[in-house]
Amino acid sequence: MSSPRKLTPAEEARLAQVRANFQERRKVSESLEGIGVRVGVYSGKGGVGKTTIATNLAVTLATQDNDVALFDCDIDCPNVTRVLRISEGPIQNGEKLVPPSRFGVKVMSMAFFQDNEDEAIVWRGPMIHNAINQFLHSTEWGNPDYMIVDLPPGTSDAPLTVMQTLNLDGFVIVTTPHELAVLDAKRSINMIKKMNLKVFGIVENLSGGVFGTGGGQALAEEMDLPFLGAINMSAAFTNSQKPASLESDAVATEFNSLSEKLKQQIPANNSD
Ligand SMILES: Nc1ncnc2c1ncn2[C@@H]1O[C@H](COP(=O)(O)OP(=O)(O)OP(=O)(O)O)[C@@H](O)[C@H]1O
Ligand SMILES: [Mg+2]
Repeated sequence: MSSPRKLTPAEEARLAQVRANFQERRKVSESLEGIGVRVGVYSGKGGVGKTTIATNLAVTLATQDNDVALFDCDIDCPNVTRVLRISEGPIQNGEKLVPPSRFGVKVMSMAFFQDNEDEAIVWRGPMIHNAINQFLHSTEWGNPDYMIVDLPPGTSDAPLTVMQTLNLDGFVIVTTPHELAVLDAKRSINMIKKMNLKVFGIVENLSGGVFGTGGGQALAEEMDLPFLGAINMSAAFTNSQKPASLESDAVATEFNSLSEKLKQQIPANNSD
């Protein structure tokens, strides 16, 4: 048998890269090990209410005695901390960061590491990947039953990288009743399907306002996906002190129903 050929420097470098990637993946999966179900909240279109849905869903699950983490992955424009009025950042515990809790939800956001709220951060693929990985390794998540992930909009590098890195169990797609938002939602569903990831279902937000109602339900039927419910346009969402689901009984009812329908879509072996 011939002795193994010596690797060229290029091959050595490639091998080192593969090893590093593998170790990084292992570190990420170790730090995510204790997390029950990872749900991404996503839409192709900006401003349709992803952050609103992610935040209120997380808070609602927490009111049902679940241990819940909310991960603001909108790294270009993180605003979960603003919505939840969190001023204190994570606490350093050795090499780990302990996320602050608000309304019973553990919150981690890129905003904690931004010096200036108005500053725009331009991230490229590898930077996003590194930042997300760093976040995931260093956060002491504990053992939350659910991790709700607020994703950036669109089909650019940022949401794609986040989706690939986080290994999400499935997605809640947010749309408004409006035709254009529905079209964008369809695009994002197709992208998720292409990545062989699961769509838990569709939520119609800002329902009943000037855009009417029914676009979300029609999209769900067309794409053969579960319809998880509608969240009406409501002044309760303009309260800046607490999430609307804790402020208004009507909104709480909508989010309780949404969380129940979502749970029905989560495979049984995934939820404990
Ligand atoms: N059901 C609702 N009724 C009234 N206002 C709402 C409702 N849902 C969201 N809003 C408001 O609409 C605005 C946009 O919502 P939000 O920030 O959640 O959207 P987004 O999809 O996360 O946006 P982006 O794409 O910029 O991240 C916010 O001011 C929010 O308070
Ligand atoms: Mg948002």
